[in-house]
Amino acid sequence: MNVTVRGRTQPCRTVAFDRARNAVRLIEQRLLPHEFKIVATRNFRETAAAIHDMIVRGAGAIGATAAYGLAQGALAFHGRDLPKFRRHVETVYQTLKAARPTAVDPVNAMNGVRAAMRAGRTVEEQQSLALAAAGEFASEDVRHCEEIGRHGAKLIHNGMKILTHCNAGWLAFVDVGSATAPMYAAQAQGKKFHVFCDETRPRSQGATLTAWELAQQKVSHQIIADNAAGHLMQRGEIDLVIVGSDRTLGRTGEVANKIGTYTKAVLAKRHGIPFYVAIPLSTIDWKLKRGFDIPIEERHESEVLGAWGTITNPKSEIRNPKSAQRAYVRVANPTSGARNPGFDVTPPDLITGIITPVGIFKPKELWTQRRRLGFAD
Ligand code: MRU
Repeated sequence: MNVTVRGRTQPCRTVAFDRARNAVRLIEQRLLPHEFKIVATRNFRETAAAIHDMIVRGAGAIGATAAYGLAQGALAFHGRDLPKFRRHVETVYQTLKAARPTAVDPVNAMNGVRAAMRAGRTVEEQQSLALAAAGEFASEDVRHCEEIGRHGAKLIHNGMKILTHCNAGWLAFVDVGSATAPMYAAQAQGKKFHVFCDETRPRSQGATLTAWELAQQKVSHQIIADNAAGHLMQRGEIDLVIVGSDRTLGRTGEVANKIGTYTKAVLAKRHGIPFYVAIPLSTIDWKLKRGFDIPIEERHESEVLGAWGTITNPKSEIRNPKSAQRAYVRVANPTSGARNPGFDVTPPDLITGIITPVGIFKPKELWTQRRRLGFAD
């Protein structure tokens, strides 16, 4: 998508690879919306740390980062000893896999890279196959999001008010986004609509990232407190909900997504509001049989007990965003602890449809349509 920073507009992708430096280039998402900065990770351990520390986040974006990280690790190997190379690649794979547990895209992306590498007979051949496969995963992520936009735009009509949760926009993918793809496609078709971004405590991805993206793309929007959605639904002020997913079970249609998604799905059902989930094919887990078995990331309690933001004089921030100082503010009672599950699982009966690159399906149809959706025995 195009990014405008200090009056200069340029196209930008969330994740890219610098072959000359063997580095993964990422947008430093922790600084947004206050500062736009590109960083480069110089080895696979730094790439895994960037995923773990949420410099890059969102299912498709960490999928592409892990794929490039695997290629980066493979390319850093010197020598011709294939068994030694394989052991090294296994270490790289496990390090990247452990960075964040809930999203399945990194595992699917790296499995694709490893499968492609098997066609190589030498270390050198496998190294170049790894990089080509990582690049293909990134390109496919963009194509899938564009197709999601084509299918999902039909759900958006003039005058609609749409709720989204967390950030399943282009920052969460390589480009375009999943939940935002139908919005950008509808905007390109000239449709007028309004988006409510759930703030999405505790990390506030809706307030910081989705709102920044929509502002950049000039989509009409407002941030709402997470607790406001029920009230707006009751008053007829929300017509449609579109969210993303970090792992969708192909066998059951259960959807893991950012904490609070399940609550919104229950509310939408109660008010008869269509609730859609937008996913590329890399988000489907064909193995797990029960949503209960999805590993739910438990994050540090400090995220719940306080918040990151910038401390600034509002007037000086307008003149010079760099004068804003990033700081953590403790909000909660100093002697209390917190529980911080990062994701929840929404059952299929609360989901109207799953918007995929090959069409919109009922959650239970994922399994019956598995061949079209990329399932391989
Ligand atoms: O913890 P995050 O910011 O990496 O959360 C993941 C997500 O971006 C969301 O759960 C999103 O809705 C689905 S991923 C496109």
